[in-house]
Amino acid sequence: MWRIWRFTISPYLHPRRVKELPYWIPYAASYALSILETLALTCNSRIRNGSQEPFAVSVLGTKLYFLTNPADVSESFRNVTTLSWEKYLDVLLVSFGVKKNAMPLLHKDNQSLDRLFSTVTNTNNRARKRKLLDFADLAYRRQLAVDKVDELSSVFFRTLHETASWPQLAYKTTYGSHSRLTVRDLLDRTLARGIAKMFFGEVIFDLEPEMARHTLGFADGLWCLIYRYPRFLAKDFYNSYERILNAIEHFTALDPAETSQASFLIRNMIEAQKLAGLDARSAAALTSVLYEAAFANVHATAFWLLSYILFDNNLRSALCAEILPAFKDGQFDTTYIVQNCPLLESCFREVCRLHIVSYSVRLIEAQTKFGDKVLEPGNMLLVPFGQLHHDENVWGSDHAKFSPTRFLHSKGNSLASNQSYRPFGGGANLCPGKAFANRQVLSFTAYILYSYEVSVPLVDGKAQRMPLIQDNIPTFGTSVPQPGMDPLIDLTPRIIEPIQSIKSWS
Ligand code: HEM
Repeated sequence: MWRIWRFTISPYLHPRRVKELPYWIPYAASYALSILETLALTCNSRIRNGSQEPFAVSVLGTKLYFLTNPADVSESFRNVTTLSWEKYLDVLLVSFGVKKNAMPLLHKDNQSLDRLFSTVTNTNNRARKRKLLDFADLAYRRQLAVDKVDELSSVFFRTLHETASWPQLAYKTTYGSHSRLTVRDLLDRTLARGIAKMFFGEVIFDLEPEMARHTLGFADGLWCLIYRYPRFLAKDFYNSYERILNAIEHFTALDPAETSQASFLIRNMIEAQKLAGLDARSAAALTSVLYEAAFANVHATAFWLLSYILFDNNLRSALCAEILPAFKDGQFDTTYIVQNCPLLESCFREVCRLHIVSYSVRLIEAQTKFGDKVLEPGNMLLVPFGQLHHDENVWGSDHAKFSPTRFLHSKGNSLASNQSYRPFGGGANLCPGKAFANRQVLSFTAYILYSYEVSVPLVDGKAQRMPLIQDNIPTFGTSVPQPGMDPLIDLTPRIIEPIQSIKSWS
């Protein structure tokens, strides 16, 4: 009876209210995986239906509104009056482990932070913003500004060069002249190490030798934190998370001389957290959010990009030819890669289209209208990127397929700037790491393709399959491959002019 009232009679009486799907999640079973699966599948089925009206689903007593029309999405990114990202961030931070009683310290107007604010912003802003959370935001943006990002970039690429060169990977050689490992292994040893080091410096590996591996495991299971998935069902994930938090907590307690290699962002955040009086665990949790923002999507998109390239010989050959001029006189020029390799860029954009399937989330603070539909305050608004990225009107009937040249052939690159393409979000919260992420992923891929002949060997006499997306779990960021789908690859060093240095930015 209740279902008939809620999903049939009430919508008829209130046509302007957003339609709620006839779907109910019982409170008592709030932690069951089946619920998460069903939620993900419900959204997927709407995506396939192609309806563009806002719709709603009730989860654990909160109504989740979903926006699916690209014009509504753009409007939502512009709306900072009734839609709040900060309020959602609070929920996220508590999920990540910031203690509830520490939250007021993040929002408190704090004059002791004045000096630090002066290092990241101008005087006018300083007068308005003195909260720890604002400092984190401004310090992150300062670190990613054109004149400061090279500090991160140069450490990242130096570490990549140290870890991905043949002497480093050769120790795994058990098959004559080549090294056999999985794609994730490769990422773990190279790219993931580079990201940890550019944030914290080498000392982080003394505190947690497996920092890269745990960060990877943590990134895969982020949804467990967001949806408060019980610990006993995701022991590996929570173990990785504990290890990361412990490492960051110990790092924070080190003498400043020992953390001098850390990035500007992290050094200043640690100081700011101490001045604000944040407890050690909450401080580590807040820092872990900053770290994950730089890690999770970069790592996961690199996995998919490399996988698509390795399973397509023609594409691989075309890319090897395209990237070659970036390697000259012993120098690898990453600026050449981001400016002159349209096929590689098109592949990356296509990976982002297919694999950034998470949601942008906002808290609705006051009644908000989209067209003639009204969204009620106190609930959450979600923009599912997956739906936009599969809109048949924009992407065509082959939207589900990886098409390496899709963005190459779009006139004036209209697809990349289409309202239905939002891998980096939009509006006030457009990802500030977009350009850096682009450079990291494209240049990492180019480095591997230039340095190695990469092949995908038979396993037990059978050809391996391109990994498939694990689409029965909610995704927070980039989709993860199905369990066990991590291609085994052979790396044989090419006879090439060795890379002596990497030009990381210009
Ligand atoms: C392929 C890689 C990446 C993707 C797909 C990506 C995607 C996104 C998206 C969609 C958002 C907006 C979230 C929202 O509006 O709800 C975001 C925000 C953010 N990203 Fe990225 N990101 C990537 C890489 C990076 C990197 C490398 C960094 C830093 C080094 C970074 C730092 C941030 C930060 C700090 C925010 C929060 C911005 C704010 O609070 O307004 N991201 N990212």
